[in-house]
Amino acid sequence: MKLETTRVLLTGAAGGIGSAIAEKLAARGANLALLGRNDDETGPLADRLKADGAIVYGLSADLLDREAREQAINEAHQRLGGIDMLINCAGLMSFRPFSEEDPELMARIVQLNLTVPMMAARQVLPEMLKRGSGHIVNIGSTFGSIGFAWFAAYSASKFGLRGFSEALRRELDGTGVNLTYVAPRAVKTKLNTDAMYRMAEATKMNMDDPAWVADKTVAAIEADAKDVYLGFPEKFFARLNSFLPRLVDGGLRKQNQVMGGFARDA
Ligand SMILES: NC(=O)c1ccc[n+]([C@@H]2O[C@H](COP(=O)([O-])OP(=O)(O)OC[C@H]3O[C@@H](n4cnc5c(N)ncnc54)[C@H](OP(=O)(O)O)[C@@H]3O)[C@@H](O)[C@H]2O)c1
Repeated sequence: MKLETTRVLLTGAAGGIGSAIAEKLAARGANLALLGRNDDETGPLADRLKADGAIVYGLSADLLDREAREQAINEAHQRLGGIDMLINCAGLMSFRPFSEEDPELMARIVQLNLTVPMMAARQVLPEMLKRGSGHIVNIGSTFGSIGFAWFAAYSASKFGLRGFSEALRRELDGTGVNLTYVAPRAVKTKLNTDAMYRMAEATKMNMDDPAWVADKTVAAIEADAKDVYLGFPEKFFARLNSFLPRLVDGGLRKQNQVMGGFARDA
């Protein structure tokens, strides 16, 4: 997909991966509605990208508030004059033993990582279908293909997002609307808590820079890719887990024990 003058609505725009994606899209001449949780973050980001000549609007809403979310998407539509691309990037994570998980937080994780992308896609899709063109991009995770111990709520939400992406992509076949699912492995952003960083160091878990993830995401969009799994060997294990899950159980057993020590301290 050509990005120049494409009208993009990006959620999670002020986050580590979101802001890196915003920069890459602005550099390619896309027109952007950057949706974050508060103006203090999206405003300065929009101003910075505008100063480089891009057309950018900074918007804010709590995506878990249905009315506020729908209003913000309508505002993005109005400001941009339409939405050609929706990128669902906002997300929330928890690293904790499931038996100690806060039920309120679990509900927010599933809502933000799964229900909100579905609702946002539902809101923008009719116009895309009418036009016969558009693109929905869902930012998933390796944990959406490999269920990771101590990340049960997060894994469940990302498995759901991957299932939704696959089903909707098949439904949209031949309509001119594309769907790309991007699954990064761990990324150095504030989504990860101190305990998560300590665990990653102890287990030698690979962690990517958000700028690299943004490069790969934009390349996947330009190539109209269906799904992209970032990083080796994670992309291989994501496939292996689907047909040899017992092998992956065994491979992860020792690492799970080490991770558990950090999750209990989180
Ligand atoms: N970092 C990783 O290791 C990693 C790995 C694989 C996939 N991902 C996925 O990549 C995406 C981006 O994550 P990130 O690493 O860039 O994390 P991040 O820096 O924490 O960004 C997430 C963004 O979502 C926003 N958000 C959270 N709750 C919200 C709400 N109720 N309403 C509106 N916005 C809300 C956050 O706003 P606030 O700052 O106001 O909270 C933040 O800007 C997520 O979907 C995540 O699951 C991340």
